[in-house]
Amino acid sequence: MPSAHTGLQTLSACLSRETLAGSLRPGLATVVAALAASTQRIAAVVGKGGLVDILGSAGLENVQGEVQKKLDIVSNEMMIEGLSATGHLAALASEELDHHLPVAGVQAAERYLALFDPLDGSSNIDINAPIGTIFSVLPAPDGAPSDAAFLQPGRCQVAAGYALYGPATQLVLTFGQGVDVYTLNRDHGEYVLTSRGVTLPRATSEYAINASNQRFWEPPVQRYVAECQAGAEGPRGRDFNMRWNGSMVGDVHRVLSRGGVFLYPRDNKLPRKAGRLRLMYEANPMALLIREAGGLATDGALPLLDIEPTGLHQRVPVVLGSAEEVERIVRYHADA
Ligand code: AHG
Ligand code: MN
Ligand code: MN
Repeated sequence: MPSAHTGLQTLSACLSRETLAGSLRPGLATVVAALAASTQRIAAVVGKGGLVDILGSAGLENVQGEVQKKLDIVSNEMMIEGLSATGHLAALASEELDHHLPVAGVQAAERYLALFDPLDGSSNIDINAPIGTIFSVLPAPDGAPSDAAFLQPGRCQVAAGYALYGPATQLVLTFGQGVDVYTLNRDHGEYVLTSRGVTLPRATSEYAINASNQRFWEPPVQRYVAECQAGAEGPRGRDFNMRWNGSMVGDVHRVLSRGGVFLYPRDNKLPRKAGRLRLMYEANPMALLIREAGGLATDGALPLLDIEPTGLHQRVPVVLGSAEEVERIVRYHADA
């Protein structure tokens, strides 16, 4: 992640400057400021860990049949509350809500839809490992909001990003013109710009995949991983390293920071599911960030950003990261 050091510019100062310069619409700046503020509130509660009642299961299931952790629910409530009064959001959609949630009393002509995974990496919550929040902003079509209004391809996103709750809390943000990284100054309660225009290298020798699913993978992914594992003696002629965070935010952040390829491919573990990750609030926002940082994101054949969505919670195979490796994996799919 080579970057120019940027001094101490807060997120709110950056948003104001771009709005005044005319490169950012004021309503979108307001929406993104509200998203960022919500992640700060989540970061504060995440930082308390077992000192407050946020660990463990809530004993409920979401629309996808996944057991909700307490922090999934708390984060979802904080996102909804923080986004309810921007005046520019017509409706919200979340991993934790069956359907969209209209926002009452929005009069502005400049209106958006926000989608989010309020808490990504739920299995990391109770072990004090990296977790995050992923978000996507789309233009709101005219008329009353509906689930169907959200079903726009990822290339229509006007903003996307994530917050990573790691040793430091960071906000990684794109408006479709490059990727900036802000780090939370906990003393002042403000995000501060720490890297501007981040890019990832085209080449890498690091991949990320949940290898416990190996027996369920399709042949192109079997081939790719086998060749990486064969290392210097194999067809790739060099050794590869593997890392797996168990949180897409953590894994994508590593890929953005030093390159790499992240795979959650289609598998035949549960054939009715096309993969594990959700297109609208996991794959699409990450795909926009990766594209803006110079990488590629695909389902194995199509760019993720070109997929025509069919459902708010639809799943999709994901291969993203350094261009050379993603291009190779696409070739292996085409050859299969
Ligand atoms: P979520 O916690 O929002 O349901 O998402 C978890 C996702 C993603 O963050 C991660 O890459 C993947 O699930 C981890 O899957 P494994 O359990 O197979 O490691
Ligand atoms: Mn997730
Ligand atoms: Mn989640």
